[in-house]
Amino acid sequence: MRLPNNLSPEDEKKFKDIYAGISSESRIKESAKNMQHGSTSVLKHSIAVAYTSFYLVRKLKLHVNEHDLIRGALLHDYFLYDWHNYDNNEHRLHGFFHPGVALRNAKQDFSDLSEVEQDMIKKHMFPLTLKPPKYIESWVLCIADKYCSSKETAEGIYDRLFAKEKNDKERSIKHERKSE
Ligand SMILES: [Fe+2]
Ligand SMILES: [Fe+2]
Repeated sequence: MRLPNNLSPEDEKKFKDIYAGISSESRIKESAKNMQHGSTSVLKHSIAVAYTSFYLVRKLKLHVNEHDLIRGALLHDYFLYDWHNYDNNEHRLHGFFHPGVALRNAKQDFSDLSEVEQDMIKKHMFPLTLKPPKYIESWVLCIADKYCSSKETAEGIYDRLFAKEKNDKERSIKHERKSE
């Protein structure tokens, strides 16, 4: 299965409306300044994971609460710090602890977080979090998060190793052509 593909225009509108609601009531835009994997910010990662989760339930025809699925996925990494900052070893165990931080932040901004949304945020790192997800929405998020994270990490490795080399080569070819 090729992922992620495009959702229908109606589903994309639904997705954007839910994102607009989250964005206006929270600090999620602050996540744009923190990097997640490779050159992808936490905000871009969260949007990609939420979109992929929605795409997966459509593709697999799963019956879920789509509103909760999208909101929970958008907020799953709502930890609001740069985990690459290892100052004072504060974020050393980021993988284990950030779901708890994200849930705490989300609860501060949204008093109406559903049980499904809370379970999604809390368990999205399963099997690192020992308790398995309780709802289909949480399992879908778990899979979409791992899929997007590996893609972002792989692209980050490529960018780091070869993108500069490729850009330099392209620039020198252009330069050679100009001077011919
Ligand atoms: Fe996470
Ligand atoms: Fe994530």
